[in-house]
Amino acid sequence: MDLKEKISKERVPEHVAIIMDGNGRWAKNHGEARVFGHMNGVNGVREALTGAGEIGVKYLTLYAFSTENWDRPMEEVSALMDLLVQTIVKEIDALEERKVRLMAIGDLTLLPEQCRKALEAAIERTKVNDRITLVLALSYSSRWEITKAVKQIAESVKAGNLNPEDINQETIHTYLETRDIPDPELVIRTSGEKRISNFLLWQIAYSELYFTQTLWPDFKKEHFFEAVIAYQNRERRFGKISEQITV
Ligand code: IPE
Ligand code: IPE
Ligand code: MG
Repeated sequence: MDLKEKISKERVPEHVAIIMDGNGRWAKNHGEARVFGHMNGVNGVREALTGAGEIGVKYLTLYAFSTENWDRPMEEVSALMDLLVQTIVKEIDALEERKVRLMAIGDLTLLPEQCRKALEAAIERTKVNDRITLVLALSYSSRWEITKAVKQIAESVKAGNLNPEDINQETIHTYLETRDIPDPELVIRTSGEKRISNFLLWQIAYSELYFTQTLWPDFKKEHFFEAVIAYQNRERRFGKISEQITV
């Protein structure tokens, strides 16, 4: 039986988020420069997106570049930005054809002009697609996002549009970058690292975490299916006890 058949159609996660890690180590293993790893990381993106689409996942968020990644050597940062533009330009038709809607979360104002423009054009062009939403977390970090939300909430209070007593979890949700996206049920991190690295801290409060040793450029849709199967075998209790859980 192939892996995909082991996935129960009833409990497919609506949103899967992936911390794509291990490009640098993959390149090193191949005796190449880090950039070569990033170039091959595009294969992982293709595989994850295909796997997600095949089983009916509605949102796939990929952590592509963190706020902290701006501190990497300049050559690596600019190679990553170039790669982003090239990949968008190259893949846009395929995204369109597969009815993929592209979105981005993060501080896009920090991206080089050309990069931001290519991204915005692709987002605009794919905005009516409804098969799956691919969310790129770019120049993103959760603490950046939460800080921005707090500032905007304070501004709303100051302007008299928001009463502090009325602030609840839903209010906070509406000030986050992910206001239109459900929380991920499953977070995958590749490369064996077991940390969150400033990714979706608010949104993953009750997500299931799945770690794999696979380095991102080696990631295949079967790895994606394995993660979903592991997720489906977990019991999500949300603070309750086992006997209270019906599904
Ligand atoms: C993930 O791979 C890609 C980005 C963070 C942009 P890394 O570049 O972090 O690869 P390792 O962790 O050094 O192997
Ligand atoms: C996390 O990977 C960010 C992305 C995957 C884009 P890193 O490789 O930058 O994470 P740390 O710094 O090792 O935790
Ligand atoms: Mg890394």
